[in-house]
Amino acid sequence: MNTEHLRKDYLQLIASVREHVEEQLQLGFTELELDEPERDSPYANFDLPTLTADAESCIKCQLHETRTNVVFGVGNSNADLMFIGEAPGADEDRQGEPFVGRAGQLLTDIIQSGMKLKRSEVYIANVLKCRPPGNRNPEPDEVETCSPYLIRQIELIQPKVIVALGSFAAKMLLDTKIGITKLRGEFHTCNVPGLRVLPHKKPPVVMPTYHPAYLLRNPNAKREVWEDIQKVMAFLAEA
Ligand code: URA
Repeated sequence: MNTEHLRKDYLQLIASVREHVEEQLQLGFTELELDEPERDSPYANFDLPTLTADAESCIKCQLHETRTNVVFGVGNSNADLMFIGEAPGADEDRQGEPFVGRAGQLLTDIIQSGMKLKRSEVYIANVLKCRPPGNRNPEPDEVETCSPYLIRQIELIQPKVIVALGSFAAKMLLDTKIGITKLRGEFHTCNVPGLRVLPHKKPPVVMPTYHPAYLLRNPNAKREVWEDIQKVMAFLAEA
């Protein structure tokens, strides 16, 4: 066998692996994730404005037929803290902003009066970007179609902590069927398949808690949510 040939092939292989790794690092992949199978996301290289524009013209599921506005998300695109709810309601659909109705007012109180933060300091989004008619629960196919937007949002914002508001957000972020009552109150590792994290960042931790709409019906649960939020504040103070 011609060893010179082998040597050339070997050097060529090394050079192309190196080129690939450099390209991936430039895109924000970490070395660890280079071995993982690529997530099949059409948005993998989108920045936030491009992602927003894409979502705003999305017609990938039936919800586009009944929405008034796409509710993409608001807040600080470099936030350490992200709140993720289920889907826009009637007020959010009308205004194009998440959590602006009655449940939203409660969330705003938690952020402003409880955490002493401004809404503009955190990032707020939902699993679904369009309102399910009559505020019905999201259908599994709607979650599957829409969640790549949220996944890319998380990748771009790179929060340290995500507060999952209610069972839909918790189930999606933790890839679990366990109910919110069992999940809440403890930090969990975000378990979104293929979520990419910048080299100098850690994957976000997730604190599941009750949805503000649940608190409107069950005010006694506010105490538990406040306990969960205090854990989040302590985590952020240390992080
Ligand atoms: N409920 C949600 O889950 N999200 C909103 O934006 C409003 C109400």
